[in-house]
Order: sequence, then C-alpha cells, then structure tokens
Amino acid sequence: MSILLTGGLGYIGSHTAVELLEAGERVVVVDNLSNSKKEVADKIKEIVKGKVDFDKQFSLYIGDVRDEKLLSKIFEKEKIESVVHFAGLKAVGESCKIPLEYYKNNIDSTLVLLDVMKKFDVKNLVFSSSATVYGRAKSMPIYEDFPTSATNPYGKTKLFIENILMDLYESDKTWNIVLLRYFNPIGAHDSGLIGEDPNGIPNNLMPYISRVASGKLECLSIFGNDYPTKDGTGVRDYIHVVDLANGHLCAIKKLRTNCGLKIYNLGTGVGYSVLDIVNAFNEVCGGKVKYKFVERRPGDIDVCYACADKAFKEMGWKAKRDLKNMCQTSYNFEMKNKK
Ligand code: NAD
Ligand code: UFG
Repeated sequence: MSILLTGGLGYIGSHTAVELLEAGERVVVVDNLSNSKKEVADKIKEIVKGKVDFDKQFSLYIGDVRDEKLLSKIFEKEKIESVVHFAGLKAVGESCKIPLEYYKNNIDSTLVLLDVMKKFDVKNLVFSSSATVYGRAKSMPIYEDFPTSATNPYGKTKLFIENILMDLYESDKTWNIVLLRYFNPIGAHDSGLIGEDPNGIPNNLMPYISRVASGKLECLSIFGNDYPTKDGTGVRDYIHVVDLANGHLCAIKKLRTNCGLKIYNLGTGVGYSVLDIVNAFNEVCGGKVKYKFVERRPGDIDVCYACADKAFKEMGWKAKRDLKNMCQTSYNFEMKNKK
C-alpha cells in the first residue's frame, strides 16, 4: 500500500517524503510544480540512497490535483491507503491580491481529491492546516479547541477546507481525518539538499534572513519593535521542518487506528521573538545578518504559540530540535544552494 502526497515536492512535502521513505513506507507524489521543481525528487533520492529501494518505493506524477482524470489514474494504478494533502497556494499577501486563484486552487483541489478518494473508497486523510485558523487568539498558548477565524483569503481557504472535512466526517463516520495545524515551519534537511527556496523576494522571516546571511539580500526589515513582547518584536512558535515531517508519520499511524476526525497543533510550545531568531542565526553564520526596524506589517499579530500537548498525548509526537539547529540547517541549505 502507498501514501499519496499531494504537493509532495514542496517544502514540507519533500521532508515528509524522506521521513516516510526512511520509515519503510511507499510514497506516491503528485505535484504541478507551481511552487517547486522536479529536481527535488532527485534530491529525495540522493538523501535516501543506500537506505531505501527508491525506484520501488517512490512514484512521481507531475500534474494538478484538480485534474480528476489524472487523480483517478493514480488511484487506479497505485494502491493508495492514505493521502496527505499538502498541495495549495500559501502566501498570505498574494492571497489578498489574487483571491480567486487561492479559492480555485485550494478549495477545488480538495473537492476533486475528496471525490476521487470517495470513488476509490480511500477514506484516510491528513490535511495541512495552519495556525492562521486561530486568527487573533484571546490568550496564549493556543489550544485546539480555541475559536477559529480568518483574516485573509489564504486563511479562509484553510478554514473552509477544515469545515468541509468536518461536514464530510459528520455525514460518513467511516472517514479518518487528521487536521494538522502547523505553526511556523523553518529549517532544512541535515543534508542541505532540500529546504525552503521561495521564488523572488521571500515574505517569511527565515528565508529572508538566510538570504541576507548569504549576501543575496542587503538587510532584514524587522516589522515593528513596539509590540507588547519582551523586546518589542513579534513572537512565533518556530518548528523544525523535520520535526513537522515526523508529525505526519504519527498522523498516518493515528489514521491506522481508525481515529475518526482529530485536530492537532504542531508546534514546540515555545515562542521566540524576531530578535531571538536574528541573534541565534548570527551565532551560526558569524554575524552576517544586518537588520533595521520598520513599521509593523499590516495584518500581523504580536504573539502566537501553541500548546502541543495533545499531539504528544494522543500521537506520541513531540518536536525535538532546538532553535540553533533550525538556524544551522537553514544556513547550510542556503549556502549549499547559493546560485
Ligand atoms: P510549498 O508551496 O512549498 O508546497 C506546496 C506544493 O504544492 C508545491 O510543490 C506546489 O507546486 C504544489 N501545488 C500547489 N497547488 C497544486 C495543485 N493544484 N496541484 C498539484 N500541486 C500543487 O508549501 P509548503 O510550505 O510545503 O506547505 C505545504 C502545505 O502546508 C500548504 O497547504 C500550506 O498552506 C500549509 N502550511 C504551510 C505553512 C508554512 O509556513 N510553510 C504553515 C502552515 C500551513
Ligand atoms: N518578519 C519580519 N521581517 C520579515 C518577515 C517577517 O520582521 O521580512 C516578522 C513578522 O512580522 C513576524 C515574524 O517575523 O513577527 C514571522 O513572520 P513570517 O512571515 O515568517 O510568518 P507569519 O507568522 O506571519 O506567518 C506564517 C505563514 C502563514 C501561517 C503562519 C502560521 O506565512 O501562512 O505562519 O503557521 F499561517
């Protein structure tokens, strides 16, 4: 049996593919390359070389999840046991500029996927949700039963999809669905072969810092130093992408217990400020990250961190890697892939 990863060549999907392969699972990836490159599959192969029979354990389909014919072909050919649905557009700012693209891509891909899963009687799904569904939480840490809301089209697609999945489960309790709400994934694989490599100027903190450290960008703009936090800069729950990837293995195991519908935060439970991240990164790279303070970024919240106890209690999952490792692996990936 195989596990289908939609968007499996992307940042989180590729790390999850590696962890699944190394755990002995068979992996099938479908990706339309809208935010990734085909070569990522070669990198995955290189990482698992000698440990895994890659050609037997891995299949790749380049195409869109909204292509029902292609998906049906995949389900006919491969014996799919479970699906992890990563595929989607994810940039908050862009989603405000081209909302229809976000609704079309994220919602339609999910509906087509669910239809095909139903047709082939595959009813085990892990969905990539986000801490963004908590909107402005009333207190910290954030628990899974906190009220949800969304402030931008990207966040709304995550919330709609969560609701679609809840309705589906209510209508048919034979589905097993795990909603994983990721906090802020950063870091890269220890090999330096895969990591986060956004096109153009990065929107997110860690890729921006990495590019300042490698000299591709001049200076980091820190958005606001007047938040009610210890040093005035925004606080987030940064989680290493390999820890996050391992959370998906635990979720797959959870599906196999016929778990019904479950929701888990994937975070560390610790909040770091932007200055904490800059300082930790500077220790790793020898002080190359220059920064300046600028206005707050519209839509940003001051503090956001998880309570991740439920994922530990119910799936035995816990983040293991520290901030230094997150910075080291990000820097290593940046330097290895410096163009
Ligand atoms: P990513 O952009 O690196 O990966 C997404 C992949 O999906 C890409 O390879 C892209 O080419 C592919 N894709 C997009 N639309 C597709 C479609 N219609 N058909 C086939 N492939 C398609 O993003 P990521 O950081 O790996 O995120 C994965 C998932 O996790 C996304 O759903 C994202 O919204 C969610 N998420 C990410 C973060 C984060 O900070 N990275 C935080 C919370 C949630
Ligand atoms: N920041 C800067 N300068 C930058 C980029 C970011 O100071 O150039 C600050 C932000 O103001 C914030 C922190 O760094 O305080 C983190 O910002 P990111 O853009 O890296 O991450 P966000 O917390 O804003 O959002 C991310 C994803 C969302 C997701 C959310 C929770 O972009 O899609 O994490 O998972 F919903």
